[in-house]
Parts: sequence; C-alpha cells; structure tokens
Amino acid sequence: MCGIVGVVGNKRAKEIVLTGLHKLEYRGYDSAGIMLSENAEFTVKKTPGRVAELEKEVVGIDGFSTGIGHTRWATHGEPKEENAHPHLSKSGRFGLVHNGVIENFSELKEKYLTDVTLAGETDSEVIVEVVDYFSRKGLDTMSAFTSMLKEVKGSYALALIDIEDDSRLFLAKHKSPLLIGLGEDFNLVGSDAMAMINETNQFVEIMDKERIVLTANTMTIYNENNEEVVRDAYTAEIDASDTEKGLYPHYMSKEIDEQPAVMRNLIQEYLTTEGASKIPTNIISDMIESDRIYIVGCGTSWHAGLVGKKMLEELTGIPVEVHLASEMGYDMPLLSKNPYFIFLTQSGETADSRQVLVKVNELGLPSLTITNVKGSTLSREATHTLLLHAGPEIAVASTKAYTSQIAVMLLLGKALGEEKNRKVAKELDLIHELSIVAGVMETLIDDKDVYDRLTREYLETTRNAFYIGRGLDYAVSLEGALKLKEISYIQAEGFAAGELKHGTIALIEEGTPVIGLISNEVTSAHTRGNIIEVESRGAKAMVIALEGLDKPGDDIVLPHVHSLLTPLVMAIPLQFIAYYASLHRDLDVDKPRNLAKSVTVE
Ligand code: F6R
Repeated sequence: MCGIVGVVGNKRAKEIVLTGLHKLEYRGYDSAGIMLSENAEFTVKKTPGRVAELEKEVVGIDGFSTGIGHTRWATHGEPKEENAHPHLSKSGRFGLVHNGVIENFSELKEKYLTDVTLAGETDSEVIVEVVDYFSRKGLDTMSAFTSMLKEVKGSYALALIDIEDDSRLFLAKHKSPLLIGLGEDFNLVGSDAMAMINETNQFVEIMDKERIVLTANTMTIYNENNEEVVRDAYTAEIDASDTEKGLYPHYMSKEIDEQPAVMRNLIQEYLTTEGASKIPTNIISDMIESDRIYIVGCGTSWHAGLVGKKMLEELTGIPVEVHLASEMGYDMPLLSKNPYFIFLTQSGETADSRQVLVKVNELGLPSLTITNVKGSTLSREATHTLLLHAGPEIAVASTKAYTSQIAVMLLLGKALGEEKNRKVAKELDLIHELSIVAGVMETLIDDKDVYDRLTREYLETTRNAFYIGRGLDYAVSLEGALKLKEISYIQAEGFAAGELKHGTIALIEEGTPVIGLISNEVTSAHTRGNIIEVESRGAKAMVIALEGLDKPGDDIVLPHVHSLLTPLVMAIPLQFIAYYASLHRDLDVDKPRNLAKSVTVE
C-alpha cells in the first residue's frame, strides 16, 4: 500500500520517477506526487487521483537529477492534495515520501510540533517535521533522520531529500518493502523491482531497521547499531516486458490468459520429467513431522487456502485448518502438538499475514510461505518458501496467483503424500493432470464471447448476485463472488448451496442472479435441487457444470479434469464474468475503487 520511487544522479529523474509510479499504481492510486531537486532548486507537485493526473502537472519541468515520488492508498486523511506525498517540511528544507503507518504520530506531534501548523492530516507529514525539528536543533541530516526514526513506532519505508544537499537520498525501512536499484552513475530506490526495472536489473535488499545514504555512485547501509553493512547486489529475474500489458486492454485479461502457461511453468519448476517432486526435501521432512497444518491468508489467498485444505487432507491424511490472518493474529486457536504453518500470500507483504508469522516465529514453529514475490517479507521471515512462478500480477484482482497457489499446494500435497506412502498421492500423475488443466484452461479462455454474453444476460443491471456450490465448488464460489464485487461493485455472496435455505434464501426475488457451480459427482444432484429451489422463487440461475455432470440448458460446460483439480478450471469463467461485469459498467477493471494490491496495513 502506497508506492515509493526515487532516483539520484540522473537528469531524467522526472521521467524515471513517473515511470516508476505508473508501475507502482497497483499499490494505491488515491493521489500521487513528485519532488524534483538539483543544487537546492526544487519543485513539488501533488494531485489527488492517478499518476496520469500528476503527469499533466509536471509537463515542461525538466533538468533535475534527484527525485522522489509517491502513489498513495489513504490511511490517515482523505485523498486530497494536502495529504498527498511528498511532504515538504514547513522550513522548506526537507521533502519526504512514506509508505506504512506511524502509530504514535499524535504523540510525536504533541512532543515536537506544538508550534507547527500542519497542512494535512497524515502521519507522514508529522515525521518530516520531526526531522526538521532535530535539524533545527543543530543535528546533521543523517543524525536528524536517525533521531526521528528512534522516536517512531509503526511501519515505514522512507525516502528523504535535504534541499541543502540534494545529491543524497536518505532511506529507511521497517516492515514496509523498499529496495535499492543500482544504475550506472545513478542509483534508485523503490517499493519493488518493477518500479525500477526499466533502468536496471541490479538490486540490493534493505533489511528492517536499516538506514541508507544513497548517492549517484555510493550506497552506505547502516544497521540498527549504526554499523556499516556490506551487501551484494542480485540480478532480478523479471523482464521489463513482464510488466507491460502488450496488446491487452487490461492487465486482468492478460493475467487470466496467462494461466495455462503458469500451470506448465509449475510442472517444470516442481516436477522432473519423470514426475518426481523437486520440492526441497527439508520442506517435506519438516511437514511430515506435523500433526496439523494451519493455512493462513487473506481474501483470495484465504480462498485458495480453502481449496488447498481439501487437497492437502486428501493427499497427505494430515488435518488442515484454514485461518483468516486478520483474525488469527489476535485470536490464536489452540494449536496441535506439532503444528506446521503455511502462509499463502501473493505479494508476500500482507501485514495481516505477517503479524501471524511474527507470532509463529516467536513460538519457534516451522513455517512455509507460498508467494509470488521472491525476497518478500513473508518469504524472508518464514522457515521456507515456495514460489508461485506466475510472473508479475499487476491487476488488483488476483487471478493467476490464485490458481497458481492452488496448483503449488497440490504439488506440495502430492510430494508429502508420496513421502507418507499414500496410495492416492502416488497414483496422482500431476504432469498429466496439470497438462490437461492447462489445455482445458486454453479452451475456456477461447470462449470469451460466451462469458461476455452471459454476463450481459445475467448481471447487466443487477445490484446483487449469489454464487453457490458444495465442497470445492463452495470454496470457488467464495472466490467468484469476491472477484465480482471487487471490480464490478455488484454485491455478491458465495454460499454453501445447502445453506441458503437456512436463512439467506429470503433474499432471492424475481430476477436475482444465482450462479450455480457443479463439479462434484456426489453432491451434484443436491446442488441441482438447491438451484431449482432458488429458481422457484424467481432467481435467474446460471449453471456452470463439469462435463459428465452437465444437463441440457446448462450455461457453461467445463471439459473434464481430475476431481481434485476442478477449482483450477472452474475459476476461469468466474474470473471472466467479473471482468466483463466491470467492463460493461465502464469501471476501471485493473484499479477498482478503495483497493490496493499490496495490503501493508492491518
Ligand atoms: C483479491 C485479492 C486480495 C488478496 C489479499 C491478500 O483479488 O487479490 O483479496 O488476495 O489482499 O493478498 P496477498 O495474497 O498478497 O497476501
């Protein structure tokens, strides 16, 4: 949440910062701002709304070689110019961008800023004034910056410019992501590698509580104890083109279409050509000791966890619980004797999930993060990591990361089940089954016009919708409903099909859209019965059924796949339905209101 980018020592500073901000808009897009500086000449421009708006404000402003920029997801204070970053201290000497939440900003205000009238309501404005306060007390900039950091409680990724020495950027990080990019005779900083990938593929990690002084040619890292730290750069595997839309109208449509390739990629990453698991043996040996697996996640990742539970239980015989991170952090259930934690997080930065991991680490328990982002906070802090290998996911609504999370849990379940000598795991040929899934995904992706038509027919004017299913279909119905509500703003609920009659069926009226999911032989007749019940009360039911369980009149028939893998294909029409519902309402598919992709506040 909130994106930061900065550059020092490059005359294209404005262009570099704006390009970076565009790439970081997935982190928040309520407002944007830029500060450019050289030889104590500087300019600050801020605007509510998107980076495209900011771009209009800086036309013709050129020639600066130091810059910082920010794209905001509002936490403290509404999205307006005064609350947008960079914040300039009242003295006009310091400019700062911040990502994170300063929990004690009111106390800091009372302690240091009784004589300062703040322009906005943000916690971030307070901390730049605190730097200014210490500087006015006679401290040099690094000491003033450090003194401010010593006072601060909360999370931050920070970049500060001192107008009086704008050949340096002062940086710090704690619990919010920040990365250094190394250019030739210039250096960069950003919330992620994508923000800098057009300029470099050489990056240096920053650890929590470190401070950095960055110039065009030097990078000095200090740890908490004020000791200098030497750290090598690494080469990023992503390509600038991975972050472009290409010919697609939206990132979401591109990312939906990429799912067959992701499935094939996962086969290569996690299985040998003979079908043996490539999952590191230390993960399997840690897990095999456990008597209960706890899956932790939020939103779509939590939904993937619900699917993963059924797969892992079936393949390994180990009981699995799935928990919402935001609940578990403050309401830890009674744990089994040998628990094993799996953190599902596409971004690897989600604050709710991280606070559970912090507690798990305090308890000394083993954990695995399944994430799309190598080197992300939850990846670094868990015992082990498995990557999703899905490529950058930029649309706020998660699609390929969801199916990839499911597939990785399947691969993990098979490897663990085989190690436990489970027949069901040994008999599951995942090269074969995931290849079939990839092929079926392609067939479904080719049917875009069908989803476009069905979305018009069922969801064109509705204010609400229901998704119903049983078992794995229920888990997928929750995800289908979330996709629809987050990008089309149609109020949608996923329901266990048999549960509607226990209360919620009261909401069904003439024309209410109900999307029924049927992929399980054992429960298909019951779900069909539930669909008839809602139709009898006026609902317009769209039925999506797996081949073999389909009936004449069903709207979408999914080609047959292995019964454990049905969520991977059921997800595709649901993602498209949400996509078209958003498109038909003329909404911003990739950047829905009030949301951000990386949720770094609790
Ligand atoms: C919805 C979506 C969110 C995320 C959730 C957790 O499309 O993407 O619900 O799944 O915010 O994010 P991660 O997976 O990054 O921890």
